[in-house]
Amino acid sequence: MTIRHFLRDDDLTPAEQARLLDLAAEMKALPYSRRPLAGPRSVAMIFDKPTLRTQVSFGAGIAELGGNPMLVEGRLAGIGVRESVEDVARVLGRQVAVVVWRTFHQGDLDTMAAHAGVPVVNALTDDFHPCQLIADLLTVREHLGGLAGRTVAFVGDAACNMGSSWLLAGATAGMHVRVSAPAGYAPRAAMVERASEIAATTGGSATVVAEPEKAVAGADVVVTDTWISMGKEAEEAARAEVLAPYSLTPALMALARPDAIALHCLPAYRGKEIAAEVLDGPQSVVWDEAENRRHAQKAVLAFLLEESR
Ligand code: NVA
Repeated sequence: MTIRHFLRDDDLTPAEQARLLDLAAEMKALPYSRRPLAGPRSVAMIFDKPTLRTQVSFGAGIAELGGNPMLVEGRLAGIGVRESVEDVARVLGRQVAVVVWRTFHQGDLDTMAAHAGVPVVNALTDDFHPCQLIADLLTVREHLGGLAGRTVAFVGDAACNMGSSWLLAGATAGMHVRVSAPAGYAPRAAMVERASEIAATTGGSATVVAEPEKAVAGADVVVTDTWISMGKEAEEAARAEVLAPYSLTPALMALARPDAIALHCLPAYRGKEIAAEVLDGPQSVVWDEAENRRHAQKAVLAFLLEESR
């Protein structure tokens, strides 16, 4: 039996990503049409970092799929502290149908996946946030009608999980992904290389553009994220200074296409990485994006369960 996991954005082929997005749209229209967790079977949701959207959208979505969302308190479980990731994985796999884990190190998630015997889903690590990207792509599809050939500009801390996920998932969708960040906050070269490799098969592209104005010029989608990702709080002052020229202001947004949309995975800090006028303005689709986490993740769970049979 092959177990499918969703640990990073390029775990899905372009065809699988498209299928998953179709499934998410279908589930959004008919929320109770699929019940792969009927029983109810349980899904463990473990959080080693703060959460609002992820916990709530997985919890509600798992219930809609007929399952039981089981919150596992990261601090009490002490994964990798009280016992090894391997042993936790072996125990969880005997109790639940899927493990959803938000943690720091991607390697720990890989270890969980190697030993759980059930699908493991990345609910955000330092490196990737792939569930968010399914929601983001669903949102872009809804508002712009398609993904392939569209240009997306990611401005700000492109070295964070969202920068990497946009590179990989956007390239998988055949989009032209431009990332713009100051020195020290550019994505890892390996991410841009991997995205370019994928883009070569989908007709998309992945480029790093130093000036945010050039990155946003003519874009269909403009994305930013907090400058202070979870775990980086001690660097707040230094980051705010260096990243200030990359703030998504109305002036920067005006360089995109007139019908461009603005995305932000939230939580957002108005006046920092995004101006209130943009976040709360007519081009912002962030509340649809937040809602779409549920529909996207339901599709991810249904897809993994089906593919793991
Ligand atoms: N880059 C952010 C995403 C929050 C959903 C973080 O890791 O904190």
